[in-house]
Amino acid sequence: MSRVRKAIFPVAGLGTRFLPATKAVPKELMPVVDRPVLQYAVEEARAAGIEEFIFVSSMGKTAMEDHFDRNLPLEETLEKKNKLELLQAVRDAAIPDGQLTMVRQHAPKGLGHAVWCARHAIGDEPFAVLLPDEVLHAEKPCLGQMVEAQEELGGSVIAVIEVEREDTKKYGVLDPVDALTDETDVIAAKGMIEKPAPDAAPSRLACIGRYVLPGEIMSELGKTGKGAGGEVQLTDAIASLIGRHPLHGVRFKGARYDCGSVLGFLEANMAFGLAREDVAPALMKAMRAHLFGAKG
Ligand code: G1P
Repeated sequence: MSRVRKAIFPVAGLGTRFLPATKAVPKELMPVVDRPVLQYAVEEARAAGIEEFIFVSSMGKTAMEDHFDRNLPLEETLEKKNKLELLQAVRDAAIPDGQLTMVRQHAPKGLGHAVWCARHAIGDEPFAVLLPDEVLHAEKPCLGQMVEAQEELGGSVIAVIEVEREDTKKYGVLDPVDALTDETDVIAAKGMIEKPAPDAAPSRLACIGRYVLPGEIMSELGKTGKGAGGEVQLTDAIASLIGRHPLHGVRFKGARYDCGSVLGFLEANMAFGLAREDVAPALMKAMRAHLFGAKG
C-alpha cells in the first residue's frame, strides 16, 4: 500500500459569511493572529508527511498561490533590516518548488465535486483532504494521527468529534458498527450520512473536515449524483465505497475552531493569541478591560 503523500485543499468557496471582508481577499487568507487560516491546514498536512499540495480553487482567488510562493524582494528587505525572525516566518510559509498544484472548480457543485476536480493530480494513490475552515490544534496534529491509522487499517479514515444531537444536521455523521465507549478512539463504521436530521442521525459522531481516502474514490465521485443540499457530497462517495474499502472514524481530541463562521474565527484568534507568549499578557489585559471595565 502506498504512503499518503498528497493532500487536497478545497478552497473554491466564496466566503459569503465574511462579506464585505472577503470581497477581494479569499476567506482562506483571513489571519488567525498572524497566519492565514489556510496556512494552519498546510502546516498540519506537512507535519503528517504530505509532499504534494493541491488547491481546488476558483476565479478571483489567486492571492492564495502568492502566499505560498517565495517573495524574494520582501525576503531581501527583511534581511537588510535584520528582521530575521520575520524572514524565517516568511520563508517557512512557502511551499517548495513544484509541490503546489492549482486546480479550478468552475461552479460550486459540492465538496464531492471539488475533490473530483483534483482527480488527475491524485491518480490512484491514497490521499488526504483538509477543509481549511476547520482549524485544529492538538499536541499530535489530527492528520498525522489519521495517516497512522490508515496505514494500519487501510480504506477510508475520517476525523470525528461528538456533537449535540440537534447539530447533526450540519455535518457528515458516522454510522458506527459497535456501541461506543469513552475510550474508543478508532471507530469502525458501516455507513455515513450527510447532514441527517437529529432524529435520523445514526450517531452523534460528526466529521470535522479531515479525510484520508483511497484513490479509487475518484471514480466513485464521477458516478455520484446530487445528494444533500442538491450538491455532490463526498460523504455519499465514502459511504458507497464501504464494501470495498473499510471506513473508520478517528476521534479527535484537541481544540477545534470553525473558522468558516465569524464566531469560530474570533474564538480562534482569541485562543491562538492567548497561546502566544508575546501577545498573551497585553491581550488578557485588553480582554479584562472589555469584560469588566478598566479596573477589572
Ligand atoms: C462539509 C462536509 C461535512 C463535514 C463538514 C465539516 O460540510 O460536507 O460532511 O462534516 O464539512 O466541516 P460543509 O460545512 O461544507 O457544509
